Amino acid sequence: MGSKIISLLVVGVLTAYYVYTPLPDNIEEPWKVTGLFMAANTINALAHFGELLGISHYLKTLNFFVSLLDVPARSDENVTVTETTFNNVPVRVYIPNRKSEALRRAIFYIHGGGYCLGSFANLNYDTLSRQTVNRLDAVVISTNYRLSPQYHFPSQFEDIYNSLKWFLRPDVLKKYGVDPERIGVSGDSAGGNSAAAISQQLLDDPDVKIKLKIQSLIYPSLQFLDMDLPSTRENGHFPALTKSLLVRFWSEYFTTDRSLEKAMFFNQHVPVESSYLFKFVNWSSLLPEKFKKGHTYNSPTYGTSELSKKYPGFLDVRAAPLLAEDNKLRSLPLTYVITCQHDVIRDEGVMYVTRLRNAGVRVTHNHIEDGFHGILSFYGLKITDRLKNQYLSWLSENL
Ligand SMILES: *[C@@H]1O[C@H](CO)[C@@H](O)[C@H](O)[C@H]1NC(C)=O
Ligand SMILES: *[C@@H]1O[C@H](CO)[C@@H](O)[C@H](O)[C@H]1NC(C)=O
Repeated sequence: MGSKIISLLVVGVLTAYYVYTPLPDNIEEPWKVTGLFMAANTINALAHFGELLGISHYLKTLNFFVSLLDVPARSDENVTVTETTFNNVPVRVYIPNRKSEALRRAIFYIHGGGYCLGSFANLNYDTLSRQTVNRLDAVVISTNYRLSPQYHFPSQFEDIYNSLKWFLRPDVLKKYGVDPERIGVSGDSAGGNSAAAISQQLLDDPDVKIKLKIQSLIYPSLQFLDMDLPSTRENGHFPALTKSLLVRFWSEYFTTDRSLEKAMFFNQHVPVESSYLFKFVNWSSLLPEKFKKGHTYNSPTYGTSELSKKYPGFLDVRAAPLLAEDNKLRSLPLTYVITCQHDVIRDEGVMYVTRLRNAGVRVTHNHIEDGFHGILSFYGLKITDRLKNQYLSWLSENL
């Protein structure tokens, strides 16, 4: 009996140790955040365990848990919600019920989830879409796209771009009562990656006459070249997006072959022929002092060209918008970037701000000192409400 209790205690302590993460001092509501992180860590551990036992792909298990919070398309007193397809891509459309003589502005929203998880139907995204409609009296299009591990780049990019192009057709804008001069794209995390990539792609597309008024990038991921940034070093173990999850997401975006993941984790995936690209992600020259403090820039270590020959996507600007040339960046619209201090991909957003400003693009950079990755998708946290409020105010004033 005694030994059973002791084993139970040991297992309990080990489990608590595994799922518990000490928090930085400036995190607001630390107990609530700790609880949420423990839940996230537990689900993560279950998903790893399931994969180890050969029961289910790690990311499929995670997506199963994420989808438990899906809600159907349901209209309410203020918003009419429908689902349809744009160029065969499923979208959820949110239209204000209030009558309007004037054309409305519109947001084309792309959800996050590392290109492996999530949907417009997740409660957090559905709620954000409704809040955007109510606050801005705008039309919101929230798009889905095919996910990894089943599909790989460029499927996600193509779905999102095809969906946007359909929306930007004059007859479609007319149908939804949208002002063609007041359209913006917005997305968080992987969705921020797509929002940046499609904004760049539109600049060179002869089929589309419409110009975006704004792009909004919420803690975006923007490159896969250098996996050893100051933010990767500082926040590599910070929930819910750790460096190992980040690398798993990004390698799965290109392939299920785990050799890319291994090489990426140790920052040895880029071949020497591509060394010229490092100037676009050189944090030593692109980060303000405050973010570089205490870190030494290591010159890149190069790998063989085998991986980039098989999976050229990770060097493709449609996957890594930070690799765009300055003359491309120059023509981008007014930009809003949110970055969080305790975020493994913080410095990608910060470097993009520097590069856009150097190219002459007007940028509002909202850096959240007590923020961490994914705060927009959490529930019941004060910081989530505060950030949403800042984001919607910016949209309201600038779109
Ligand atoms: C509809 O809008 C009104 C006025 O802004 C607000 O008080 C109400 O909570 C909204 N209803 C829903 C379901 O969001
Ligand atoms: C990065 O920038 C630093 C100076 O800020 C420079 O010394 C270094 O050569 C650059 N490295 C690359 C790979 O561009």
